[in-house]
This record gives sequence, C-alpha cells and structure tokens, in this order.
Amino acid sequence: MTTIYRSVNPARLDDVVAEVPLADAAGFVAACRTARAAQRGWAAVPAPVRGQVIGNLGRLVRANLETLAQLVTREIGKPILEARGEVQEIIDTCDFFLGEGRRMYGQTVPSEMPDKQLFTFRVPVGVAAIITAGNFPVAVPSWYLVPALLCGNAVVWKPAEYASASAAALAALVRRSGVPDGVFSVVDADGAATFDGLSLALDAGLVDKVGFTGSSAVGARIGELTGRHLQTPCLELGGKNPMVVTPDADLSLAVEGALFGGFGTAGQRCTSLGTAIVHESVYESFVDSLGKALADAVIGDPTREEVLYGPMLADRFAERYEEYLTWIGDHHRVLGPIGRITADNPRAGFAGNPADGLFYHPALVAGVRPDDELFRTETFGPIVGVLPYRDLDEAIELANAPGYGLSSSIYTNDPRSAFAFRSGVSAGMVSVNNSTSGAEAHLPFGGNGKSGNGSRQSGVWVLDQFTRWQSMNWDYSGRLQKAQMDTQTITPDLDFRL
Ligand code: UN1
Repeated sequence: MTTIYRSVNPARLDDVVAEVPLADAAGFVAACRTARAAQRGWAAVPAPVRGQVIGNLGRLVRANLETLAQLVTREIGKPILEARGEVQEIIDTCDFFLGEGRRMYGQTVPSEMPDKQLFTFRVPVGVAAIITAGNFPVAVPSWYLVPALLCGNAVVWKPAEYASASAAALAALVRRSGVPDGVFSVVDADGAATFDGLSLALDAGLVDKVGFTGSSAVGARIGELTGRHLQTPCLELGGKNPMVVTPDADLSLAVEGALFGGFGTAGQRCTSLGTAIVHESVYESFVDSLGKALADAVIGDPTREEVLYGPMLADRFAERYEEYLTWIGDHHRVLGPIGRITADNPRAGFAGNPADGLFYHPALVAGVRPDDELFRTETFGPIVGVLPYRDLDEAIELANAPGYGLSSSIYTNDPRSAFAFRSGVSAGMVSVNNSTSGAEAHLPFGGNGKSGNGSRQSGVWVLDQFTRWQSMNWDYSGRLQKAQMDTQTITPDLDFRL
C-alpha cells in the first residue's frame, strides 16, 4: 500500500499544501536505472548548449519568482523576504553556470617528448543522487542540480518530504527549461526507503555520486555507505556556528548580526549562529542589547514582511526543538519566556494568531559552559548561547571546541584579530563584521569536521564534485617514445661557480 505524506503549512496547520505518494526503495532504484540510461545522451550534448538550458532555467525561475517564493513561505513558513532571497539564489546560481557551459576548461599541457601533446578534460561523473533538506527547499537543491546537469550528469533528486510541493514546483521549471526526460527525476520517499534504495542502487552500479544536505548523523551513514563503494559524497551537514565579539567591535552591528544569524529563519539554517563568544568587557552589554532587540522583534505570520521569523519548518522540528530546550540548566540565565507561543505563554506584538501554527519564543541563553550539551551540539531552532572569553586564543579554542566547522563570524575592528581568527578557526567559511549566515552563491560553501567531509559547493569549486579529470596523451611522432626514458638530456655544468 502506498503511503501518502501530507505536507502541511506550519503557520496554518489546517492548510494541507500537498499530498504526496511516497516511493519505496525499489522506486528509488528504478529512477536511478532510468537516469543511467539517459545520462550518456545528455553528456553528448555540447556543454555550451547544456549551459543554454541552465540559462533557460534561470529565466523561468525569474519569471516565476513570486509564485515560487509564496509557495516556499506557505510550505515551510520561511518569511516572505527570505523566501524571495532564496529564489534569487537559484537565479544567481543559474547565471553563474550558464557561462560555465562555455568555459568547462581543460588544459593543453606540454609533453616531455617532441611530437606528443598532453590534454586534460572534465568528464561528468555519471548519475548523481541528490538528497536535500527542506529548510532551503529550492536554493540549496539548485546548488547541486544546476552544476550536476551543466556538467553532463543525470540527476535523481530526493527532496525533504515536508517541502515536496516546493520541490515539485522547481522540478516543473527544470523540465520546462529543456532538460530531457529521464535525465532528471524527483523521487518522494522517506529517509529509510531512500537509504535502502540508495544502498541497492549503489550495489547495482547505478549511482556514481551522492550529494547530501542534512544532519551530521545521517551524513556519517551516507559516508560509510558510499565509502564501501569507493565513492566520496558531497556532504553539507550541520553546524554549531560561533560568533566572536572582540572588545573593539561595533557592538550594535554585532547585535544586529546575532539577531539575524541566530533567529532569522527561526534559527533553522545550517549556517545559523550557535554560540556567541563575547569578550568579558562587553559581555553584559551584548547580552542586554541582544535581549532588547529580541524583545522588539516581530514573530509570527511569515507572509508579513516585518516578521523576523515564522514557525518551525514542520512538526518534527518543533518536537526536536522542545528537546533542545530541556538542555537549559540552572546555571543558565534565560532572557524572556521560552517554549511554544500560546495564549497562556504569549508573545508581545505577535503577528497573527499563535494557535494557528508551530511558533516558538526565541531563547537567548547566557552563561553557557564548554561542557554543556547546549554548547557542544547543533540546536536547529531559535536558540543562541552566549559565553564570555578573556583573550583571542581562548575565543578561537571555544569556537572550534564543538568539532563542527561550517560557518563562523568575528566582529572586530582590528585586522590582526580578524586574520588570527581566520587562520585559527576550523570553519570552511569565515565572516568578518557579518553574520554567520547569508553566504553568496558563488563562493565555496561547505564545512569540515562534523559539518562535512571537505567537499565544497558553489562557484567553480563544485565542478570538482560533478566532474572527474581525464588526462589524454597523444603521440604523433610515429614511434614509441617511452616516458622518462626517451626524453632528451641536456647536460649542464653544475660545478660552475662565479
Ligand atoms: C543551509 O541552511 O543549508 O548562507 C544553507 C546561508 C544560505 C544557505 C544556507 N545562503 O545562510
């Protein structure tokens, strides 16, 4: 019997956005088999022509920007301004890769022998299975789909169930852009069926690359599975992203950055601020100012432009968030009420009716300690810890201690602090006087440690995920010239001295 998943608007729980039949493992394998059959034909289309298809996609997304943004807001509760930004991020990605279709450079390389020439080519990997989260239901998938298709791969995309309507809308645009049938398909499935299907498809030799955005725990399982098949997945996992505030920092700028980085998107970005590490001399005033800014912020109906954040993405995120709140201990100082916003636990200035959806108070937790669960583990949701530090070395040590390494930020006016932080922090991405979130679509995006295996998305860097280098040597001398043996020798006079 087919399971039907109901994707529900988290800001209005009586609004069912989509009802989607979920595939089983065999359904996933079947999509990979279709992709395998279609991939060679797509790879034979010249890269500049594939680039035109990506250009078409960018145009289609631009023409449908508002409709797609409204759908994203309705399905996952992202504030409309952010949803528009998210759709813009797809357009930016298409703009970049449209041109890459005409570049896709290889090299001509001199040979050590005469009448011989060496070359390198980028070759598509084959079939890419892409499994994505729903907090960025269309932009982050585009970081995979666009370059994978541009490079000549076929793609099977497994979006998050709770974002399946947004995924279906993006998929419709991909198809209309001219990507042939079979080269791209979407499989709606739950995590267990996807993992089993992926395992079977890998056994059958139907998948050559896995891209995954999601939790560190699932990323580790995907790493194990693909490792057994001698594959390196592209992993974009969680973060416990630190923000360091130095004594000379512009404090109001830092507070603004913490407000957006920690509580924008209800803290449900992989790049969201986890812990603010604030110099002891400005610690109290930072906590007070951020507390005040939070009290003034508008929470509620995500269709309203003034809202800082809306609901949790879906039920299971709300449940998990409530668990994180139990990590708050007696030694912490919490500013304001926490937990679900209700008539009995109200929020001043709430936009709309909190009973309609999965709305939570922001939790600002001062006095976290390095051995707190709250300090060590990602807490996907509107919760930020704060702790003081004495010197920059200690701040950097604290920034790295949880063992993630995605995004990071420092607020400082001292270039020495900025560069010392950059070289000391383990994160793949460093912001100076900017929040931990909001990366631009053409810089390498990715993390280290528990945040990923070093893979990078976006810009030219992602080409290494979706192509492999092939080298070619062509000897037109008419003889067998043996490398290292038949090379010309030039005799120098190395005993010469001035
Ligand atoms: C994510 O949450 O998976 O840098 C990605 C940012 C966004 C992407 C976040 N451009 O915050």
